Amino acid sequence: MSCVRLLTLLALVGTARASAVDNQACATSSTPSGTDFFPAAARLSPGNLTSGSASAFVDGGEGFNVTYAETFKVVRTKALPGVEALTYVLYQCGTTQPTQDVDGSAFPAGARFFSVPVKRVATGMSVAVGYLEQLGLRDKLKLIDPAYVHAPCVQKAEEDGTLAASHVIYLGASKYNYTLWHNSISTNNVEMVITDEWDTGYSNSDKDVVFTPSHTNLGMLERLSFIKFISLFFNKETQASGYYADQYERWNYMAGQVAAAQARGGIPTGYKCAWVTAAYEITWDDYKRDICTAAGLSIHIPSAATSSAGYYKYPSKAAFLTDMANVAVVIDESWFTTPSTDATKTAVITNLAFNEAPGLPSLSPSTGMILRLDKHVSDGDPLYSHSTFWPTESLTWFEDSYVHPAVVVQDLVRLSWLNGVAGVTTLQEGCPRFFRDINSNDVVVKTTANECTLWDNARVNGLCLAQLSAQRVAVAALLGASPAARIGANLVTVTFVAIATMILV
Ligand SMILES: *[C@@H]1O[C@H](CO)[C@@H](O)[C@H](O)[C@H]1NC(C)=O
Ligand SMILES: *[C@@H]1O[C@H](CO)[C@@H](O)[C@H](O)[C@H]1NC(C)=O
Ligand SMILES: *[C@@H]1O[C@H](CO)[C@@H](O)[C@H](O)[C@H]1NC(C)=O
Repeated sequence: MSCVRLLTLLALVGTARASAVDNQACATSSTPSGTDFFPAAARLSPGNLTSGSASAFVDGGEGFNVTYAETFKVVRTKALPGVEALTYVLYQCGTTQPTQDVDGSAFPAGARFFSVPVKRVATGMSVAVGYLEQLGLRDKLKLIDPAYVHAPCVQKAEEDGTLAASHVIYLGASKYNYTLWHNSISTNNVEMVITDEWDTGYSNSDKDVVFTPSHTNLGMLERLSFIKFISLFFNKETQASGYYADQYERWNYMAGQVAAAQARGGIPTGYKCAWVTAAYEITWDDYKRDICTAAGLSIHIPSAATSSAGYYKYPSKAAFLTDMANVAVVIDESWFTTPSTDATKTAVITNLAFNEAPGLPSLSPSTGMILRLDKHVSDGDPLYSHSTFWPTESLTWFEDSYVHPAVVVQDLVRLSWLNGVAGVTTLQEGCPRFFRDINSNDVVVKTTANECTLWDNARVNGLCLAQLSAQRVAVAALLGASPAARIGANLVTVTFVAIATMILV
């Protein structure tokens, strides 16, 4: 139904049908006055609920809150350490930019105004690409820095020349030249620039939206909740709330199954995990702790460290290796330029100096694991080239882990407790994988533009969700519990039935 016809119909039936307004379309001269573009059904859902908020005010958790009016919404981000609070006023395209807040007060100085749904977006971040992909908003991306992008369809669009590329020139010594990037923002008529608390690819203007899911204070589900924040700019609240609720439930289900199995003695407790680098650093950000805890591991904090610091640098290699004796699962975050060829088992172990401590539990599959986060990487081969541009193989971790927390925990649970169990390791093509098991010479998989159709099919048809559902069936059977009723069952396609049957046979 066309917007004009719909609005005509609305005019005939009165405001009772206001919830039927399609807020993907702009208001026009024939839009009746008093049309509510943001009725309850179109608003965000609070917490893990799936129906739109009856209240015009919705608290979005750690990141933001939003207040809806009929033609606009006011989004207030919350201050985090090192991140100032900002106000974004998002008004329906075709309506007049509001001059005062919902309660009649003035907007705060520095409030940024956007006509929504935003149609032309730029970002220099990989993180933002993951959220946009999951919300089906790739066509809104008009400019990227392809150096770190993994998403195969974004790689493809860039390589086909349908998506513009540019970059910020690094001058050394923490200095940057933004001229080229800013010119590209201008020539591509970009309306909104997604940046972060480090100003990654910022426009240094009111087009900037500061997107902070990588903030160290945030846990895994809080990172996910930022899908709700970004959805506001595209009137995609319903999709974001539904996806959030489904991932929330899947994450908690898996964590609950693991905890219950541990309580019964079905799988062991007390194993520690540690996120380290070859610079003898260890970190325990909230999201890292969440991932380990959900998978039935406990996060290791060195006894010499201050727990609230989240970070510790060992005074020496010897101190590092001594402490690694306490850790079963080592997650190695050391940088390799070309993981597919450089980060071999020998290179990873030598880089961490673990070859000098052969008794470490992480070195033996019977007592632990060494994992890396580079199971899926891009081919680091964009169309774009420039004398100051250096693309690398980019990890899906920095893009997809934010919006696929349930896949992250599934991946770690599978490797920690279920590896080798028939059926459980059945994985769908086109779904992200994150952890790479170094001791078993697990290979890096390069994702290229050629995989675009495969990955899009997996997302659009819910194959990654089907993979999660298949594992929950298998886990429930293995661990002796029946799967709880789950929400979002409508997201699971027929394919899931086939997989589940295959596994259970
Ligand atoms: C919404 O968030 C802003 C920014 O953090 C805060 O000042 C305000 O009090 C919040 N509103 C409510 C009703 O909680
Ligand atoms: C910054 O980049 C622009 C565009 O590439 C170039 O013309 C200019 O000379 C650069 N300025 C500096 C200070 O490097
Ligand atoms: C939603 O969250 C509440 C706690 O806030 C919890 O009790 C409930 O089980 C959650 N629902 C689902 C389906 O996860």
